[in-house]
Amino acid sequence: MTSPVNARPPRRHLAQLPTPLQPLDRLQQRYPDGPRIWVKRDDLTGCALSGNKIRKLEFSLAQALEEGCDTVITCGGLQSNHCRATALLCAQLGLKCHLLLRGEHQPPADGNLLLDQLAGAEISVYPAPQFTRELTTLFEHWEQHYAAQGRRAFVIPTGASDGIGVWGYFQASEELAADCRRVGISPGHILCATGSGGTQAGLSVGAHYHLPEAAVWGVNVCDDERWFLNKVARDLHEWRQRYALDTDVDAVDVRVIDDYVGPGYARADEEIYRSIAELAACEGLVLDPVYTGKAFHALLTERKAGRFGADGDMVFVHTGGLFGVFPHREHFSFLDH
Ligand SMILES: Cc1ncc(COP(=O)(O)O)c(C=O)c1O
Repeated sequence: MTSPVNARPPRRHLAQLPTPLQPLDRLQQRYPDGPRIWVKRDDLTGCALSGNKIRKLEFSLAQALEEGCDTVITCGGLQSNHCRATALLCAQLGLKCHLLLRGEHQPPADGNLLLDQLAGAEISVYPAPQFTRELTTLFEHWEQHYAAQGRRAFVIPTGASDGIGVWGYFQASEELAADCRRVGISPGHILCATGSGGTQAGLSVGAHYHLPEAAVWGVNVCDDERWFLNKVARDLHEWRQRYALDTDVDAVDVRVIDDYVGPGYARADEEIYRSIAELAACEGLVLDPVYTGKAFHALLTERKAGRFGADGDMVFVHTGGLFGVFPHREHFSFLDH
């Protein structure tokens, strides 16, 4: 059994690290009540603004290479940030990438899908019901397809959120702890958007070791609290077992802020679009309507309601997602005057 602090899992250094930690002082002046808000700029990890995904993929793709794979198959929604990051990083590493996407593609491609195409990824699009029902079979089908061609495919699950992907934000927590020491703060709360649970899982267990004073909150952008508690526990157990770690993962504090999904995954209501516009104009910080916009809106609302206390410091992890703004362009029509 090994402590995760000393473990050395296979890793490819692909991200631009460390990312900056910045205070949002102008926003603070506008909303003075509550802890000071800092942003960990993981939207700046590099590789065409690949956000949180690149941290997890440093480990997933290193594992693929370690296993001698020449092809990567992964999945997500039509505008998946994870799929776009995987496609670009595979191109960078000389791996073939095949994306299984959920939705209905009506050309021309926009946002992340256009970037997937530019990165030369193979793309198969499936209607949502079929995708949900048959995903495991689809992965098997394509793995066999490549095996028959003499290729070796490595499957990365949704969002690279599994026992391997946990390392991404375990390591990011160590980086964040060093940032906090440098600027002289000890944040009481850390908050991120949670979609497939991997960022939250890594941050929660990472903070357990490196930032024990901080409560880590995931704001779910789909499903509900129970789903995320189960998913994070599953990823952490898999992580512990796979790497023979000595962590008591059941003792890790996992917290979800539910109630901000709004009209559904990848759909937002006007207050989210207005909140995104406000932050961009006030701080020059751009959020997206699918993940970070909802999570930041939750942060401001819950901070106002007193959930995070009256003072101290808190950190919002900006997980990226910029390209998700453009397919929502019509919802920003209130900016046209
Ligand atoms: C921009 C952005 N933020 C947050 C998340 C959530 O991260 P995770 O899938 O690790 O829960 C995702 C992906 O799902 C994302 O693309």
